[in-house]
Amino acid sequence: MLTIEHLSTSYKTMDGNVKTINDMNFEIYDNEIFGIAGESGCGKTTLLKTLYDIVQFPLQIDSGKVILSGEKNGKAFSYESGEIPNTWWNHISYVPQAAQSVLNPITRIKHQFLDSIPKNESKGETEEQVLERVKKYLEELSLSPDILEAFPFQLSGGMRQRVIIALATFMSPNVVLADEPTTALDVVVQRGILMLLMKLQKQFKNTLVLVSHDMGVHYQVTNRMGIMYSGSFVEMGKTEDIFETPIHPYTKMLVGALPRVGDKSQKVGIPGRPPALTNPPPGCRFAPRCPNATELCRQEVPTFREIKPGRFAACHNLKEEVD
Ligand SMILES: Nc1ncnc2c1ncn2[C@@H]1O[C@H](COP(=O)(O)OP(=O)(O)O)[C@@H](O)[C@H]1O
Ligand SMILES: [Mg+2]
Repeated sequence: MLTIEHLSTSYKTMDGNVKTINDMNFEIYDNEIFGIAGESGCGKTTLLKTLYDIVQFPLQIDSGKVILSGEKNGKAFSYESGEIPNTWWNHISYVPQAAQSVLNPITRIKHQFLDSIPKNESKGETEEQVLERVKKYLEELSLSPDILEAFPFQLSGGMRQRVIIALATFMSPNVVLADEPTTALDVVVQRGILMLLMKLQKQFKNTLVLVSHDMGVHYQVTNRMGIMYSGSFVEMGKTEDIFETPIHPYTKMLVGALPRVGDKSQKVGIPGRPPALTNPPPGCRFAPRCPNATELCRQEVPTFREIKPGRFAACHNLKEEVD
């Protein structure tokens, strides 16, 4: 599982520090599909990079940490931010946003597989033996082994994305992180990719962290989800509960903006824009766009807390429900 403790990050730029993640505290469990939603620019990709522990200049962790723990091949493990072992791919993998470009254009797919397997993991197998395993795995994913001989440009966008997912899951890592894996693909192909990700999670019973700005994707695929706004989670809980009874005003707006069967009313976007991250306002960052904002909201940051069992939110206008 992933434990995120008091995590804050920023990008160091000429114009100042872009404060991207603000004091996040949450957990992602084993054997679940956890969704991260939120408008473009709210920090989803930055959070995923920090979970994967690729924190490179100009990004830096200002405070807190991420702990990845679990069991692999009967052995318990636990790693903190900055402690990447050389068996990292066994534990966690990452399908970056616009992943299409991570495939080396001048390398056949088979070499991309061979290169992705750490030397200490090939267990003395010959290249042929490893490729046999890769072929079997591709067949399980309904991919033709013929693609191993192809160069990336010979494959369609959807096929390339499948190959990247196959690469990211071949070592059956405990956690798979996928950043907008269906953006930029057409609708029919999107569906296939989502089904593949769901099938693999079911098979490995591992953790899939799925980032998407598209609430429809979360509705179809995730078990639990968090809604991000300007570098923080404003709400988190079971996906069906979030859609049925959103409690944070921002979540209400996101859910309310979704098209529904038979509903012909004009959908309006959420008015206003997120605040600049270099100089964010004090208090709740959503206050300038919130219909219920009070003086307190403009002055004090609301704590992200458990409002009812398993349901978290950060809002001054909510009361914990004690049962
Ligand atoms: N390399 C960078 N340098 C400075 N600011 C960055 C950099 N990368 C991202 N940002 C800023 O960090 C914020 C969060 O970006 P990102 O994590 O990509 O959001 P999302 O994935 O939700 O669209 C944005 O305001 C973005 O402009
Ligand atoms: Mg992003």
